[in-house]
Amino acid sequence: MKKLSVNIDHVATLRQARGENEPDPVTAALVAELAGAAGIVSHLREDRRHIQDSDVYLLRKMLKTKLDLEMAATDEIVNIALDVVPDLVTLVPEKRQELTTEGGLDVASQLSHFKTVTEKFHKKNILVSLFIAPVKEQITAARKAGADFVELHTGEYANAKGKNADSELARLQKAAQDARKLGLKINAGHGLNYRNLKPVAMIDEIEEFSIGHSLIGHAIHVGLERAVKEMLEILREAER
Ligand code: PXP
Repeated sequence: MKKLSVNIDHVATLRQARGENEPDPVTAALVAELAGAAGIVSHLREDRRHIQDSDVYLLRKMLKTKLDLEMAATDEIVNIALDVVPDLVTLVPEKRQELTTEGGLDVASQLSHFKTVTEKFHKKNILVSLFIAPVKEQITAARKAGADFVELHTGEYANAKGKNADSELARLQKAAQDARKLGLKINAGHGLNYRNLKPVAMIDEIEEFSIGHSLIGHAIHVGLERAVKEMLEILREAER
């Protein structure tokens, strides 16, 4: 069955809104693990708008599954990640004004930078995933940079309607096949929810989904354990 990694950033968003200790993203991560998540994702942004450095260190200590640290490939955050030693880093582009990660990385035009950063992580046995649009040029560049995974950006698919959604889905499928042929492993995420996950989950080559906003939002209504279990049920249905 496909795996689900739960992004707990928005638990920290709620905490930061009051500047207090609650709700606690680390507690949420442990509940998500108990409900069946295969891993936990958190994004240590340069502006620290939600997840804080101390959360990442505590997650590293407490998690029983795996920690996927989403991050920009800047010197400051790379040095923190090398100290934390997550199981996987997912490198993403980051802009100060954006509400969420807006696009994929342009690996092709910064190949030597991503190659250098990937080598630093590999020296510490940390796996590297590059968050890219489902575009052949970027997949080939990710392979050249030495990445272990690509995370395919599903945002265009999630925002598309009708026939456009079908063609975005076909693009993801083709990209997943191209990446697999090059020996890359494939994750996917961004904008996935209880309505649009199943068709993407039927793409054979994708191993794991990184889902945050819709799941944490749903948890406000039904509780985090049930929100994780309902998302896993969709992945189970996609296998049938
Ligand atoms: N994957 C990446 C690389 C992301 O930047 C995000 C957003 O933090 C997600 C997955 C999760 O997206 P969403 O919150 O829309 O589920």
